[in-house]
Amino acid sequence: MTPLGIDAPTPRLTWQLDDTRMGAKQTAYEICVSTDSFETSKGRGLHWQTGKISTDKQLITYKGKSLNPFTRYYWTVRIWDKDGKPTSWSAVSSFETGLMNSSNWKGAWISDSRDIKEKVAPYFRKSFSATKKIKSARAYIAVGGLYELFINGERIGDHRLDPMYTRFDRRILYITHDVTQQLKSGNNAIGVLLGNGWYNHQSTAVWYFHEAPWRMRPAFCMDLRITYEDNSIETISSGKDWKTSHSPVIFNSIYTAEHYDARLEQSGWNKPGFDDSKWKEVIFRSAPSSNIVSQSMHPIRNVETIPAKQINRISDSVYVYDIGRNISGVSQLKIRGKSGTTVRLKHSERLYPNGRADQSNIDVHYRPTDDKDPFQIDIFILKGEGEEIFIPKFNYKGFQFVEVTSDQPIDLSKESLTAYFMHSDVPVAGQINSSNETLNKIWSATNNSYLSNLVGYPTDCPQREKNGWTGDAHIASETGLYSFDGITVYEKWMADHRDEQQSNGVLPSIIPTSGWGYEWGNGPDWTSTIAIIPWNIYLFYGDSKLLADCYDNIKRYVDHINELYPAGLTSWGLGDWVPVKSKSPVEFTSSAYYYTDVLILSKAANLLGKQADAKKYAALSEKIKTAFNAKWLNTTTGIYNNGLQTELSVPLQWGLVPEALKSKVAANLAKRVEADNNHIDVGLLGTKAILNALSENGYADLAYKVASQENFPSWGWWIVNGATTLYENWPIDAKSDISLNHIMFGEIGAWYYKALGGIRPDPSQPGFKNILLEPHFVGGLDRFEARHQSPFGQIVSSWERKGSTIIYKVTVPANSTATLRLPETGKEKLYKEGNELKNIKPATELKLIAGTHLFEWR
Ligand code: BGC
Repeated sequence: MTPLGIDAPTPRLTWQLDDTRMGAKQTAYEICVSTDSFETSKGRGLHWQTGKISTDKQLITYKGKSLNPFTRYYWTVRIWDKDGKPTSWSAVSSFETGLMNSSNWKGAWISDSRDIKEKVAPYFRKSFSATKKIKSARAYIAVGGLYELFINGERIGDHRLDPMYTRFDRRILYITHDVTQQLKSGNNAIGVLLGNGWYNHQSTAVWYFHEAPWRMRPAFCMDLRITYEDNSIETISSGKDWKTSHSPVIFNSIYTAEHYDARLEQSGWNKPGFDDSKWKEVIFRSAPSSNIVSQSMHPIRNVETIPAKQINRISDSVYVYDIGRNISGVSQLKIRGKSGTTVRLKHSERLYPNGRADQSNIDVHYRPTDDKDPFQIDIFILKGEGEEIFIPKFNYKGFQFVEVTSDQPIDLSKESLTAYFMHSDVPVAGQINSSNETLNKIWSATNNSYLSNLVGYPTDCPQREKNGWTGDAHIASETGLYSFDGITVYEKWMADHRDEQQSNGVLPSIIPTSGWGYEWGNGPDWTSTIAIIPWNIYLFYGDSKLLADCYDNIKRYVDHINELYPAGLTSWGLGDWVPVKSKSPVEFTSSAYYYTDVLILSKAANLLGKQADAKKYAALSEKIKTAFNAKWLNTTTGIYNNGLQTELSVPLQWGLVPEALKSKVAANLAKRVEADNNHIDVGLLGTKAILNALSENGYADLAYKVASQENFPSWGWWIVNGATTLYENWPIDAKSDISLNHIMFGEIGAWYYKALGGIRPDPSQPGFKNILLEPHFVGGLDRFEARHQSPFGQIVSSWERKGSTIIYKVTVPANSTATLRLPETGKEKLYKEGNELKNIKPATELKLIAGTHLFEWR
């Protein structure tokens, strides 16, 4: 990564070793940083030269001379290997600072003079002349709302829906673009189109986003900073010398859809030489927030292009497209027709028996005040000149089907419609592959739902709500982190948490929010995000920055619950949401999450050197555990409460069960599951626990049986019925809570890595510095492979049955180690690289060095 426009005064640097030798490791490193790439490549760091530092650490926080804004820094690293030999300097990498401080903005916040009710999106333009030869140029743009930026007619960048959603009155994000290529000496023009996004929410739904305290007509602030060949700097900024006009985007809502009248296009509006004499003056506006920070995260993009799979021509003005899978994103229509022809694109996840789009499962929380803003229906009015292409700019939807209707006969083919899967474009960090096709499909559906619900913040579903539901997100965070490099999105979302937290510690159930959610759904079972996500980031990346950044927030949160519930148990929460049939008491599950938060807080305190806090919260966690077990655990039978699946698995998962009773509780859980016909009977919180509680306590085969069911209720049941995403409810024909693209039941994705691949981070050496390996060669599965891209490189854990032999192959990346806990196989002999290992029993732990290791059980 060579990021552009960062604000961090002390950025974090990391690298990986390119050393496949057995036992490869780093014994020391040296970093140098300078503004001169040539000097850097020679190992001379004018800004930072660490000298040789003897350590195996690969994640280092910059501690050189203080960084200047608007500056590119080049850096390189060399390491000393396991034999103490230095490598040559790495290829030079770089990072570039942005404004670093709000006082460095030169531009003014501007908008047009319309108010929040205005539906048409505004254009802005400015032309200017660049007098000298341009060396480089950067555009810095902060927006309340959404934007598209153009220079000399060319759209800048491929991000979608920038800037990401934040609590706009507390934090506004700016984006940095390298526009060196688009500018030229002589006349230039800048064009900006603004959309509403969550900033000016005009659609009315049950969460009151239209009443957001920050709501305003979109506005922006921009600095175009040009460095000429002679190193002089010129900044072209937003100000009174810009002009504004209506655009053809006649309506845009992030929640519902976009309407576009191509007859209103103004050719060349964003190019030099355009006659803007009829355009209006802009007005100055106050900044939405004084806190303007760099958007440092993987952006949303049109990540996948999906051609339509089927077209159903219902009449000469009604066509229904099936793109073959459920996604978050948009569709693009190519069409010819008479000027003024009005085409509607209705997006749905289901079809009625008559083949028309059925939105009845997703439009239920929408409260339109008239018929002008239909749900998930784009409206395109043709200009009538040749082939026209429509794709919304400021909206996305959740859908598989698009019903295109027109007020005039039109001629469409299958190729006329293309869909784009849009989501935060996080790099892939893991793969699962097995001999069970349904398992592979569940994993892929899990990824589809995870990504459909990652749009700069995690959401519950891309259609009905688009809300940052906290509970859904912490449940899915491990699943996400095994398969995707999500740290930047989570760091941003935790900043959203800090923005939204009340001074008494309370968090809302959806984040960001305009205010809804402080009164409903925000108990510890949901808002434990504040502790669980920083902790998972620590485990997966070995990076404690987020924990440190959120430490006070976790503490205030925990202290608040402690004040409200001094006895240690809390009934604040929603409980085991959307269960198959049985529901456990809310106090049971909420107290388990409260316990988890307190435990994380005490561990974080320890880590951050806050000894008094560490002791205090360790004691509080003990108190909660004692109260929990006193109330719910029958120590004679080893049964919690009524012995439901959730009641037996949640305490096992979160470490509430007294050591001596663990096997008894696990045995009871196994019996319960068998009595439930090896099927789940859990809701959201139970799904997080059930598979892990079984596989971690001696019942991996049973866990696999449950996980691989293909009849109701199960994940496989959705898949065999055609699902390409995970659902919100177990019965496919549920009457309510039946979005077809929810990630909340997605823990199974993480479970594949943890239980079948056996790959886990080691809390005592996080970031997979040491990998805890405990694969389970479960009955009924012949082949399984899990790969995870750890900070040290790719971990591979794969196994296969060949006749009566089980072959297990594992790759431990350079500079990391693994602890392999031998699974129960029922086999007598174990060979490593062909040599028999003597006196080795299940549960024995073997220490593995970096490299690839081959085991065989015969
Ligand atoms: C959302 C869920 C969320 C829940 C909270 C629903 O409407 O879609 O995923 O967690 O509300 O109860």
